[in-house]
Amino acid sequence: MKKRKLILDCDPGHDDAIAIMLAGNHPDLELLGLTIEAGNQTLEKTGRNALNVCQYLGIDVPVALGASRPLVRDLQIAEDIHGESGLDGFDFPEPQKTFEARHAVNFIIDTLLKSEERVTLVTTGPMTNVALAMRLEPRILEKIEEVVLMGGSYGYGNVSPAAEFNILVDPEAAHIVFTSGLKVSMMGLDVTRKVLALPKVVERMEKIDNKASRLFADLMRAFNENQRKVFGLQGGPLHDPVTIAYLLEPDLLTMQHVHCEIDLSHGISHGRTNCDVFDYLKRKRNAYVAVDIDAARFWDFIERGLRRYNG
Ligand code: RIB
Ligand code: CA
Repeated sequence: MKKRKLILDCDPGHDDAIAIMLAGNHPDLELLGLTIEAGNQTLEKTGRNALNVCQYLGIDVPVALGASRPLVRDLQIAEDIHGESGLDGFDFPEPQKTFEARHAVNFIIDTLLKSEERVTLVTTGPMTNVALAMRLEPRILEKIEEVVLMGGSYGYGNVSPAAEFNILVDPEAAHIVFTSGLKVSMMGLDVTRKVLALPKVVERMEKIDNKASRLFADLMRAFNENQRKVFGLQGGPLHDPVTIAYLLEPDLLTMQHVHCEIDLSHGISHGRTNCDVFDYLKRKRNAYVAVDIDAARFWDFIERGLRRYNG
């Protein structure tokens, strides 16, 4: 079977790190590179975190630095969840791995135009890099198989009553992607809140006792402590890896094709993904939104992903 080509655009970030882990060594995926933006932390920190995760796990792909801030808004980070480093909880050795010379936007454009097959863009942070690439070089649109994002919700938000972090940080970028005409598949809070990395999950994965499981356990314990302090949760929603689960085992998710519009009104609901789940407005459906997830099978998927690592 031909491997599915993807670029993972991310802001590591604890859950981004697990998404990198899962995408980095699956036999059915060809990870062409990581493109990084500011989000959970500043670009300097999310970039360093990406290098550290790749080096520690032995994932040999280009890591390209991208946007250090959103298109319009000032940067909002999530230090309360991901800590001062953006990946608190694990001591990485000094990275030897270095960044890709090109900017993330140029890396995305060059990689897509050079690829014979269409490439899937997976985004697990603010969508600034992808939006910039689409505007700078519209020819890439015909080379994109699908945009699979962690972000948004048809229900309530997290960092505001209405909006989810990745979208709220850069709503204008999300608008560009959601109005691109491409297949957009949204893994929102509605499903990620059903896969909480509860202590029993962490203990289950820790028993694997390899480098991936040790990284998972240490990162999740730090992530969970902050999720408890901020949201009162006993385990953090494992947001970003849901995108990789969707790619590899799509029947884990139940998807609904809807019209989805990003609120750019600068009001209390700015950055909300307004999903017309009843199709009441009869507008063009432009997004596939995840409305349910098989949580038990998702954790089996995570365990298989961790076990693929040796050492
Ligand atoms: O709202 C959750 C999302 O915001 C996740 O991608 C997390 O890593 C942060 O980027
Ligand atoms: Ca993220």
